[in-house]
Amino acid sequence: MNVVKTIAELKAFVNEVKAQGKTIGLVPTMGFLHDGHLTLANTARQENDFVIMSIFVNPTQFGPNEDFESYPRDLERDVKLAETVSVDVIFAPTVEEMYPTDGGIRICAGRQSEILCGASRPGHFDGVLQVVSKLFHLAEPTRAYFGQKDAQQVAIIQTMVRDYNFPLEICTVPIVREVDGLAKSSRNVYLTEEERIEAPAIYEALQIAKEEFLASQDVERAVRLAIKHIENKTSGKIDYLQLLSYPDLKVVTEETTQFLLATAVYIGKTRLIDNLIFNIK
Ligand code: PAJ
Repeated sequence: MNVVKTIAELKAFVNEVKAQGKTIGLVPTMGFLHDGHLTLANTARQENDFVIMSIFVNPTQFGPNEDFESYPRDLERDVKLAETVSVDVIFAPTVEEMYPTDGGIRICAGRQSEILCGASRPGHFDGVLQVVSKLFHLAEPTRAYFGQKDAQQVAIIQTMVRDYNFPLEICTVPIVREVDGLAKSSRNVYLTEEERIEAPAIYEALQIAKEEFLASQDVERAVRLAIKHIENKTSGKIDYLQLLSYPDLKVVTEETTQFLLATAVYIGKTRLIDNLIFNIK
């Protein structure tokens, strides 16, 4: 496995692989890898000739009061983990390498970014699209892999790829969870011992709401039950808990067949997100 830090080095690999007519799978990450990331890489490994994983804590998707500085980073550890799933190249650029100039052009994530995480993190998805579109140009992937853990993120990226004709396929991987149901996240390391014990109630709440909705088709009742469960079982503060259509992220109607039940909860200082995607009909 090779670890490269510059665009020129990455491009040398990409050009060589492309010249051989091989397929490229790209796995964009911010590092501090866990089983969620490794599942994406494993899937990419099975479906492509060459696998590139990017590790870059992207400053443009963090708000001024968010955790960009404290976000966990450990490249040495990540390199070892990526090796276990046979990644071919890790692209780990510096901020200067990714953003050497600023001509002021911004990508606007649009309607799907105005709700859920986008409402509490203004500009977040613009920053995600900025870095993801750059990574698509740099790695020229046949397929790019994203987790359903960030269901809104993948929906917005799909829209960009569709509407702006990016020549690649977006592939999604289900949420990888701890044994007690908590969704794996690089941010779980922020949790104290007590907070970690409370955190699985988030997934329990989503399951309760899903069951209730499937039984009664009553969105408000389902959401209310889930909120109550989180309030009873944790000391957390709910940022949002909503049931919407997926992937268009609109209000549920009688025509809706695919649903996103999504939540963000502050447990102490840590903002945890989780969701369920399910179908009826
Ligand atoms: P990061 O949070 O590091 O996540 C990288 C990828 O791993 C994302 O596609 C995310 O959905 C997926 N992932 C994280 N936890 C997961 C889990 N428990 N199960 C399955 N997949 C999981 O998302 C980002 O980084 C950034 O926004 C990025 C797309 C890299 C752009 O900077």
